[in-house]
Amino acid sequence: MSDGLPSGDLLAGLAGPSTEPLASGAVLLRGFAADEAAALLEAIGRIAAQAPFRHLVTPGGFRMSVAMTNCGAVGWISDRRGYRYGADDPETGKPWPAMPPLFRGLAGRAAREAGFPGFEPEACLINRYEPGARLTLHQDRDEGNLSHPIVSVSLGVPATFLFGGLDRKDKPRRFRVDHGDVAVWGGPSRLAFHGVDALKQGHHDLTGQLRYNLTFRKAL
Ligand code: SIN
Ligand code: FE2
Repeated sequence: MSDGLPSGDLLAGLAGPSTEPLASGAVLLRGFAADEAAALLEAIGRIAAQAPFRHLVTPGGFRMSVAMTNCGAVGWISDRRGYRYGADDPETGKPWPAMPPLFRGLAGRAAREAGFPGFEPEACLINRYEPGARLTLHQDRDEGNLSHPIVSVSLGVPATFLFGGLDRKDKPRRFRVDHGDVAVWGGPSRLAFHGVDALKQGHHDLTGQLRYNLTFRKAL
């Protein structure tokens, strides 16, 4: 029977953004991007009109289930030759679309909130998940400078974010990430293994059955 008090979820909603520790140097900023989320999605649409989402191939020859594009001075790419950052979109031969000031500002504020001031990313990888799409456990280690954190923004349908340790064999912990949540990991967690479980069927008013993720990196 109800005790007449709001549920924990409702209280969390009323309390606004909150910080949840993931590991040493890693936090989940709940709802941190909620107010900007609709504008972020509109910007993703403009970027994808210039640099379409595509399914990259891993060096091992597998087609990734997550569709990707980029904005910023450099973008992350994968093909049979390996993983790397490049200034041009290999699909169009043109530079990646510029990183909108809205993106840059959000990334810097989230990093500061997590204890990493002065974060100025050049790269924003944009991931698009349809139901069933997943990202296996991996480290973000293609960046020239590992002293800066990773800032990761969730939009649309909720997903399960897996956050492990520095060893691939460390059992990852599971966190639900919702529209507007921002994860930041750096310092002792910078090379933590992480991934995303297969996206479940779901619906979000702004994205339909899709989830988007923005991953900001200081790449150079
Ligand atoms: C990534 O590791 O590049 C993306 C993580 C996510 O989609 O939440
Ligand atoms: Fe990653």
